[in-house]
Amino acid sequence: MRGESPVFLNKLDEGQRRAALTGHGKHFLDNFVHISGEHCYVVGPTGSGKSNKLYGVASWLQHREKIIWISSGKDNEIIPLMFLGKPVNIITPKYTDVEIMNGRERYEPHPTVTHVSTADDAWWAIKKDHINIFEFRNAFWDRAASLQWMIELFTALATWTRLGTMPHIAPASIFIDESKWVVAGTRVTNDGIRVKASEIITENAMEIRSYGFRLVIAAQDFTDVPPAMRENLPCFILCSGADIDENRKLRYHCNPSVPGWKRSTQFKRNEAKFVDRYGNAIPQDRPVPWPLMPKKEEDRLLCKRLKVKYTGYHDKPPQESEPQEECFPELGRFSALAIPPQKQEVSNISRFGQVIDDGQT
Ligand SMILES: Nc1ncnc2c1ncn2[C@@H]1O[C@H](COP(=O)(O)OP(=O)(O)O)[C@@H](O)[C@H]1O
Ligand SMILES: [Mg+2]
Repeated sequence: MRGESPVFLNKLDEGQRRAALTGHGKHFLDNFVHISGEHCYVVGPTGSGKSNKLYGVASWLQHREKIIWISSGKDNEIIPLMFLGKPVNIITPKYTDVEIMNGRERYEPHPTVTHVSTADDAWWAIKKDHINIFEFRNAFWDRAASLQWMIELFTALATWTRLGTMPHIAPASIFIDESKWVVAGTRVTNDGIRVKASEIITENAMEIRSYGFRLVIAAQDFTDVPPAMRENLPCFILCSGADIDENRKLRYHCNPSVPGWKRSTQFKRNEAKFVDRYGNAIPQDRPVPWPLMPKKEEDRLLCKRLKVKYTGYHDKPPQESEPQEECFPELGRFSALAIPPQKQEVSNISRFGQVIDDGQT
């Protein structure tokens, strides 16, 4: 066990600093936070506190690497990210917009919103010392188009890291809450484009580890991500009710046979057990508490009032961007009052030079 650097300790909030000095906090730091590229899979049924654990994990990782959050576009999931202590940069495709609303008003100070033309450009839009949010899921009218965008995103990431042409983002963590829409496991394989997206994303995502990119993903079941991905996710955060039978070391933590060890069904939703790549947890026999995020009561109250508003679709560009064909505006019920345009004096000339009688003269 090594000591924490004073530089790192200085970046932590008070609760984190205290945790960093406990056995379980140190285990989490040494076996996860301080290892770039070490992936983590957060598992537990709905309501077991998965999203909250992801915010917690982000609050640790933000001190040492760039944070990229792939939004599920549901349940105002991104709102608590605005209270981690860093500015937020929302990256959304061109022709779409994302606005944080406080009631009917736009919330101020509003996060930066960066519009990108292609999935590749999203990697160039990442800002240092920010929480970067990819808002791609609600940006497409056609679901296949959003998956295609995700395929391009991960293909660019893997190809560019391999070729050394990636913008300087690493080390970085890519968070995916409710990951099923991006990478589907064995239970949802009857849908062509999803299967294809899952395969390509998994293949690419598993390549990026050695370049300092990690995935932190959450799903309800172990089998919700493809086998190739779950075999390569070394660390786990088991939330209340996590039930994993397929993997021996995790089965042993979810359903221990050792007397006195807590089963995951006995965990509370403010608790979880972090299991490292060797199958070890500290303490071994029980979960540890995780703070409710955001940590300040006033921020939590504000969070409840804030909503995310999505407008537009990248695959349905607005009319203004297309050439205008109509010279006269649609006047609706006022059209009868409009003065008709002057009748043209010039006769129609056919392309053969003949004057064509329009039948009215
Ligand atoms: N650490 C915690 N402390 C207290 N309550 C919590 C904590 N984590 C989650 N909760 C409660 O549980 C609810 C569900 O948590 P959430 O993270 O949304 O779960 P999931 O993403 O698994 O559905 C939250 O709305 C919150 O009220
Ligand atoms: Mg959730």
